[in-house]
Amino acid sequence: MTIHLKKGAPGTRVLGLGSYRPRRRVTNHELAQVMETNDEWIQSRVGIAERRWASDDETLVEMAVAAGGKALAASGLAPDEVDLVVLASASLRAPIPGIGPQVAHRLGIPRPGAFDLNAGCAGFCYALGVASDAIRGGSARNALVVGVERLTDVTDQTDRSTAVIFADGAGAAVIGASEEPGIGPVVWGSDGDQYNAIEIAAGSSTMTMAGQAVYRWATTKLTDTLVEAMEAAGVGPGDIDVFAPHQANLRIVESMTRKLGFGEKTVVARDVVQSGNTSAASVPLALTALLESGEAKSGDLALVLGYGAGLTFAGQVFRLP
Ligand SMILES: CC(C)(COP(=O)(O)OP(=O)(O)OC[C@H]1O[C@@H](n2cnc3c(N)ncnc32)[C@H](O)[C@@H]1OP(=O)(O)O)[C@@H](O)C(=O)NCCC(=O)NCCS
Repeated sequence: MTIHLKKGAPGTRVLGLGSYRPRRRVTNHELAQVMETNDEWIQSRVGIAERRWASDDETLVEMAVAAGGKALAASGLAPDEVDLVVLASASLRAPIPGIGPQVAHRLGIPRPGAFDLNAGCAGFCYALGVASDAIRGGSARNALVVGVERLTDVTDQTDRSTAVIFADGAGAAVIGASEEPGIGPVVWGSDGDQYNAIEIAAGSSTMTMAGQAVYRWATTKLTDTLVEAMEAAGVGPGDIDVFAPHQANLRIVESMTRKLGFGEKTVVARDVVQSGNTSAASVPLALTALLESGEAKSGDLALVLGYGAGLTFAGQVFRLP
């Protein structure tokens, strides 16, 4: 007896993007009043001018629902057309239950496959790869992917080397089937030998980071991943309209941009300046900021990359909705 398979979609595309930025803006000057730091150090080492910190009512679920709702509205789909929700986060405080099912319920999505995914700051790009392949494999018609973080909950506010960097926010994408491929293959991997370079150790509630090791890794090992993601999609640097790598540090963004040799048309996301490092939310936050400002437009070819705790990385090319 043969096991039957569902017929999947020939390709997938992003149908809508959405994001949520917490209300409270925190400048470097404000941080300098409560810890030994200053605007000059933060701007020159990390490139952050301000970041958003979530207030008590801006919970992970509320922010995910806000971003997911906008992505759903932008997609033009009804909630009952979505049958998979993948929620990426590295700052969940409670391991059980995952919040994907609750976010789906709040959005009126009836009984979807729903789960949380933790791939650190690479979470959004991992989730996009998983959801896209599920649609291509016939396991879902359409999917909602959310990256949401309250990193302020897991940051030691007396550790100036992390407290000035990490921040809060949410971003989301709805993806669906497409005759013409709108999302390229995900290129993902991990370097588990550096598993504790970014860590919330068992029993601890806050994160530690070996900043220099992560910086070295990001600037030396990940250019190849970006090149592989372009090659896998059959495009080159001259075809890329928008480069939106994880917004960890402006110097890392600039280093990757220099090495890849994009054409003049390529717009580079520098949302880290306004948003800080929002981990799994940073790529969709950066993309929605560029679309809202008009620097990026519908149909543009974007190259994205997430990387972080694990150490994990994932990148792909896709057309903006
Ligand atoms: C974290 C990071 C900004 C630190 O920058 P750095 O240039 O490596 O700085 P160092 O850790 O070597 O510290 C240099 C000095 O600045 C000090 N310093 C650290 N944080 C500071 C702050 N917020 N303000 C002022 N001084 C600070 C250190 O104490 C140290 O002082 P010392 O020389 O007297 O010992 C940088 O390593 C980095 O961005 N790494 C990548 C991290 C990353 O992207 N993580 C996310 C991946 S998802």
